Amino acid sequence: MDNETLTITDNRTNQNYTIPISHGTIRAMDLRQIKTGPDDFGLMTYDPAFMNTASCQSAITFLDGDKGILRYRGYPIEQLAEHCTFLEVAYLLLNGELPTADELAYWNCDVMRHTMIHENVKKFMDGFHHDAHPMGTLLSTVAALSTFYPDARNISDPKIRRKQIVRLIGKMPTLAAYAYRHRLGLPYIYPDPELSYTKNYMHMLWKRTEPKYEANPVLAHALEVLFILHADHEQNCSTSAMRAVGSSNADPYATTAAAISALWGPLHGGANEEVLRMLGEIGSKDHIPAFIDQVKEGKRKLMGFGHRVYKNYDPRARIIKQVAEEVFEVTGRNPKIDIALELERIALSDDYFIKRKLYPNVDFYSGIIYQAMGFTPDQFTVLFGIPRTVGWLAQWDEMLSDPDKKIARPRQVYTGEEQRDFVPITLRGQRELVEA
Ligand code: CMC
Repeated sequence: MDNETLTITDNRTNQNYTIPISHGTIRAMDLRQIKTGPDDFGLMTYDPAFMNTASCQSAITFLDGDKGILRYRGYPIEQLAEHCTFLEVAYLLLNGELPTADELAYWNCDVMRHTMIHENVKKFMDGFHHDAHPMGTLLSTVAALSTFYPDARNISDPKIRRKQIVRLIGKMPTLAAYAYRHRLGLPYIYPDPELSYTKNYMHMLWKRTEPKYEANPVLAHALEVLFILHADHEQNCSTSAMRAVGSSNADPYATTAAAISALWGPLHGGANEEVLRMLGEIGSKDHIPAFIDQVKEGKRKLMGFGHRVYKNYDPRARIIKQVAEEVFEVTGRNPKIDIALELERIALSDDYFIKRKLYPNVDFYSGIIYQAMGFTPDQFTVLFGIPRTVGWLAQWDEMLSDPDKKIARPRQVYTGEEQRDFVPITLRGQRELVEA
């Protein structure tokens, strides 16, 4: 379209500028020409937290937060959750197309072949204190993998990149299970590549002295669905960390460790753990109104509610609610679900939440399922990180193949002192000491 342009009048100079619009965006660099004079640096945009700035182009995940739509490579999340295995979705995210039967069989074998970890990694994990948070253990161990696979540094070779991707997807459940067993003082269980991705994870978590651990098929299926729902979510905080760190050409293990660190925060993936603590603290339905009052007074946050992008019901939360009922058929009902449902009902009819378009997000119900399945709250974010590794790696690979790729390096608006002259220490006078 010829009129796909934006005309800007700079009232400081009365100059007009016409800049192209593409995909509903303008290029921030096109603003640089807008200057008051030759010494002016040129106009920049100020957008803390990237509220309205696209940091990349991506063909992986589509999200319409107003309509509550989520699609991977064009496929609605609801259909993928109903019909696919997690590894099938992983293949889709990484390759752009659903696998054929032969491709899927090969892919399953390839990933499961990489579930084993070096014996020295086990020794390394043994060094953690018995009550180390599993996310701390996971992120440090993933970073340490870079010392085992120095070839990974060659990130410009697509074949080498692909090898690390398969390695990481294969090893994440093993590392997560070992972090779990280390906390409990249980011996590590070697992966069984004959099993499915989630059944093998359950086997490494929960096998005791029985000759063969048989994962409950309903719970294994629930875990597959939860993994699919968490596999990617476009440019969220941890994915942006993955892209930012990866843009310096750091190796994928160090880069993924950065993404895991971002995920751990309570405003991001760490929210699922916080939701469980919050529900425990509320304790019973009678205490909900008082809790909601505290939230409205700004004293608390309703964890598991609100989203930067969704201003409608998070489609993943809707699916998770259904999965919860299937899981409870097997495990018995987690009483926290009734507190959560009532909390949701009250919040969604309250002006505070309606005005701000705050709805339950993916983390609101997931922890309740995980707890019913036998996971402790400190495992919940790990359960987010295992599948999200696929999304991080798909986005990392996409970024490295993008001709527009450059090292991430935002600008700032400097608000500090103008130039001033050095003052010798003897002339600096006295200031009240502030304790650190
Ligand atoms: N409880 C109470 N008030 C909230 C909440 C909440 N959970 N979330 C947002 N608000 C209020 C916020 O106080 C603000 O009110 P006001 O306009 O009066 O200042 C308004 O809603 C807009 O919030 P915001 O903080 O500007 O929104 P944001 O896009 O910067 O933050 C968020 C998004 C997810 C960090 C935030 O909603 C939040 O902290 N939620 C709780 C933590 C959580 O559940 N995180 C998981 C996110 S989904 C999974 C993932 O991607 O990790």
